[in-house]
Amino acid sequence: STKPISQVTCTAPVNIAVIKYWGKRDEQLVLPINPSLSVTLSQDQLCTRTTVAASVDFKRDRIWLNGQEQSIDTPRLQKCLGEIRRLARKRKHEEERSGDLLGCCVHICSENNFPTAAGLASSAAGYACLVQSLARLFGIDGDVSHIARQGSGSACRSMYGGFVEWTMGRAEDGSDSVAKQVAPAEHWPELRVLVVVVNAGKKAVGSTEGMQTTVRTSALVAYRAEHVVPSRQDDMKRAVLDRDFQAFGEITMRDSNQFHATCLDTYPPIFYLNETSKQIIHLVHRYNRHHGKVKAAYTFDAGPNAVLYLLQDDVPEVLALLKHFFPANANNDSERTFVRGLPDVCR
Ligand code: PMV
Repeated sequence: STKPISQVTCTAPVNIAVIKYWGKRDEQLVLPINPSLSVTLSQDQLCTRTTVAASVDFKRDRIWLNGQEQSIDTPRLQKCLGEIRRLARKRKHEEERSGDLLGCCVHICSENNFPTAAGLASSAAGYACLVQSLARLFGIDGDVSHIARQGSGSACRSMYGGFVEWTMGRAEDGSDSVAKQVAPAEHWPELRVLVVVVNAGKKAVGSTEGMQTTVRTSALVAYRAEHVVPSRQDDMKRAVLDRDFQAFGEITMRDSNQFHATCLDTYPPIFYLNETSKQIIHLVHRYNRHHGKVKAAYTFDAGPNAVLYLLQDDVPEVLALLKHFFPANANNDSERTFVRGLPDVCR
């Protein structure tokens, strides 16, 4: 006879860093060499939806991503599952809760509504969503961003909406390297995000390997972590709290540029930006110079796709500029094919 299934579904959005995380001081625990800060997009745009189910009838843990079964035996997945179960056992001991499910295997189904591993932070939304749904399934309350962090560093920031910082922490076990909301999305309702898909293919060098090589070979990244990011993180928090777009935009662009400079300083060097990315950078600076102030700010993660931050009123003008200079489907060249704006809902 089939026993009842316990099941939970969650969604988690992508986050886009304005102060970048690049480099771990502890590979096992995923502890960063510098703090970072990001904006979580709204639920209805780039997001992951995950359903987790537990039943005594399940013979082993299994996972499906976008409809295809994947191996559950990856270190990061095992880490997240193990940490959640450990916490659930601890709570059970304390509170006599979530007892029945603890012995059960889980089935996990996860879907992205956007291209996976295209430098669009799919792992961030994915692990945030996985950890959140498992925590709910096993009845764990409170912050579990330190567990999401161990799936993918940037995932801890997708556990919260709005403007989110990831603190470095001091504890040896990493328990205080967590995500915290700086301000909710409603704090700055005029802020908009445009995601310009330059290339939807898989990235050349994954972030795990990329940041390892950078930390091992770049002197610039150590300088950045020690002498640049700490004060920049404070300036960025102030810019967000003051809704100061001039400061927010300038720091965002400077920090993206410095992150990519550390990639160039890696030996052998890593190039995430392509010619189209560089043209977008030039276009944004020309546009800002024309207006005599920062009206749009770009940022790039481990890939060529641009993310532009701007204010609501300027969205039509910037979209028109992008469409003019980067017409969709021009020559059917895949690098220039998509220019996708998500003007209204993404923030
Ligand atoms: O969380 P990871 O391991 O995928 O690394 C993300 C790194 C960047 O996206 C480039 C920067 C960031 O802070 O999100």
